[in-house]
Amino acid sequence: MPINAIVLAAGEGTRMKSAHPKVTHKLLSKPLIWWPVHAARAAGCERIIVVVGHGADEVRAALADEGDIEFVEQTERLGTGHAVRCVRDAVGAFEGPTVVLYGDSPLVRPETIASLIDETRTHHNACTILTFEPDDPAGYGRILRGDDGELLGIIEHKDCTPEQRDALDECNSGIYCFCGRRLTANIDKIQANNAQGEYYITDMVGIYQKMGEPVSSLLAEDANELLGVNSRLQLAQATYVMQDRINARLMDEGVTMLDPALVWVGPEVSVGRDTELLPMTMLWGSTSIGENCVIGPNTRLTDVTVADGVSVEETVGYSTVIDEGVTVGPRAYLRPGTHLCARAHVGTHVEIKNSTIGEGSKVPHLSYIGDTTMGSGVNIGAGSITCNYDGVFKHRTTIGDDVFVGSDTMMVAPVEIGDGALIGAASCITRDVPAGALALERSEQQTIEGYATKRLKALRDKKAQNGTKESR
Ligand code: UD1
Ligand code: CA
Repeated sequence: MPINAIVLAAGEGTRMKSAHPKVTHKLLSKPLIWWPVHAARAAGCERIIVVVGHGADEVRAALADEGDIEFVEQTERLGTGHAVRCVRDAVGAFEGPTVVLYGDSPLVRPETIASLIDETRTHHNACTILTFEPDDPAGYGRILRGDDGELLGIIEHKDCTPEQRDALDECNSGIYCFCGRRLTANIDKIQANNAQGEYYITDMVGIYQKMGEPVSSLLAEDANELLGVNSRLQLAQATYVMQDRINARLMDEGVTMLDPALVWVGPEVSVGRDTELLPMTMLWGSTSIGENCVIGPNTRLTDVTVADGVSVEETVGYSTVIDEGVTVGPRAYLRPGTHLCARAHVGTHVEIKNSTIGEGSKVPHLSYIGDTTMGSGVNIGAGSITCNYDGVFKHRTTIGDDVFVGSDTMMVAPVEIGDGALIGAASCITRDVPAGALALERSEQQTIEGYATKRLKALRDKKAQNGTKESR
């Protein structure tokens, strides 16, 4: 029987004070909702249903790249129990283990969800709940137990007596594994007779207890795993927890960090061993870094593939491929479609877009290279650029192998420069240059012997004369 997951994400999240739904806010570059969806999938949940309501389109868009997800709309927000009922009404009865979790709890681990599923199956439970003991239980639902420690139910913070608030410190994490069949059959038994007038999914525990259906709980070892994000402060706290977790894993895998508090790595990024990540480095998206690289400081790479032995210093890069032994920066900007072939060098204040820089070629200083195919062994002099845009269309520049481009050259595309060609400094190249040719486009230099000395003497004389006039 397939394992289902229902992720609740219909709420607004008023405490975020945001124009966007809470679960679309980002934690290490991924929307909050991505995390529980991904954890559920990694725990083996095959069918994933996300309940959306407030800002439904934005939430759907936030999960657009995540493949097979079903969305159910909860038009009225009548509580977490009502949200699950909407799923039953929309998709019909479900069978098999059904994990329910909240879109605002990004830190739960797949292993934890898997152990809830195991517990439910082993004991044929109608429901297994994950509980935890946070430092501050205020706001959380509390676990009610009988004299022998048996689970009696969950009572929301707002429905607790002051004594219960003080005495009960075991809390509901908001993560459950239900038996789908029994959940479908009994969900209509939830009533809204509580402080908030809402249908609480948490009431299922008490309902099953009274029916004599088996229910049990697992206590999470690490309370940090169940932190809910209801405010920007909690978003920052959750980010710290996840940053610590990812960086600890990377260091465990052989990555060096001068200061792990100043390195941010997204969940889908990989980094090879003996690579060093320097402070203020952010690695996002599908970025992968090879072995023996030095990345940073002050570097942000998104969807960049880096081979072994590469150095990238003070650089921003998007959708770029960097082959082995390349050196980049300090202060380069690599835009989508860039491919830096083995041992190429892209230096300081250089921007590259949609271009291939061939093996061992160098663009060391102050250049813009766009829509260009460059061969190997090319040297681009300081300040040289490709003029790829005529105001309407983009055009390509093709540069062969072993070309030497003098400083301050403009290559006005479309233009082709043959293998081994030489371009004199300060040329504006508008026509193709054949292989092996010299191209030079600049006016003749004039040299007038003694002119500068004469001019300087004349100016000084004039100054001396003026000074005499003033002193009179
Ligand atoms: C909930 C639990 C509480 C638990 C806490 C853990 C209930 C009644 N209470 O409280 O026991 O300790 O989480 O963090 O479940 N949502 C919907 N539709 C609705 C209402 C909520 O989709 O009609 C979604 C929200 O978007 C949110 C999640 O359900 O992602 C939880 O709702 P929230 O209001 O944050 O519940 P808590 O008060 O935090
Ligand atoms: Ca919450």
